Amino acid sequence: MNSNLKPQERIRQLLRHYPRERHHLINFLHLVQAEFGYLPEEVVELLSEHFSVSPAEIFGVATFYSSFRIDRPAEHEIQVCQGTACHVRGAEAILEEFSRQLDKYYGEQNWSGKVSLKKVNCLGCCAISPVAMVDGLLESRVTPAKVKAIVRKLSKNDSPESQRERDEQE
Ligand code: FES
Repeated sequence: MNSNLKPQERIRQLLRHYPRERHHLINFLHLVQAEFGYLPEEVVELLSEHFSVSPAEIFGVATFYSSFRIDRPAEHEIQVCQGTACHVRGAEAILEEFSRQLDKYYGEQNWSGKVSLKKVNCLGCCAISPVAMVDGLLESRVTPAKVKAIVRKLSKNDSPESQRERDEQE
């Protein structure tokens, strides 16, 4: 985000000099997406008034184009490849281990919003499988031990006490 303002305040600021014709809506949605990383629901009403387009139409546009997202992105994104080469080298177990470690480090089912864990198809580097992409960086030859190290690093902002407790439980 390029501003410390609340989404509605920032949008009002951006709209101040923006043309009102409805054909400018998509360009403005790109601006909002670049600013916040997604299209916050609370700004739809402002856009609706400014461009004279119903909120339903705005959501229709936002969900039609894959370049827009309407959900707030998680702080961390983990993609675990489930393509054939990774599959034969244990990708399913790697995915389960990520889930287990996220439960452990962030609290059971408490990590959605903080971390998004997704299955993806071939990431194009089968020779170093199984692979995962963590915050845009490729992790090769992933093992359960490596998964644990990755998740521990992601959760580094946890209090040292709770980190120590978890380590002692092993
Ligand atoms: S199958 Fe995983 S990188 Fe190709």
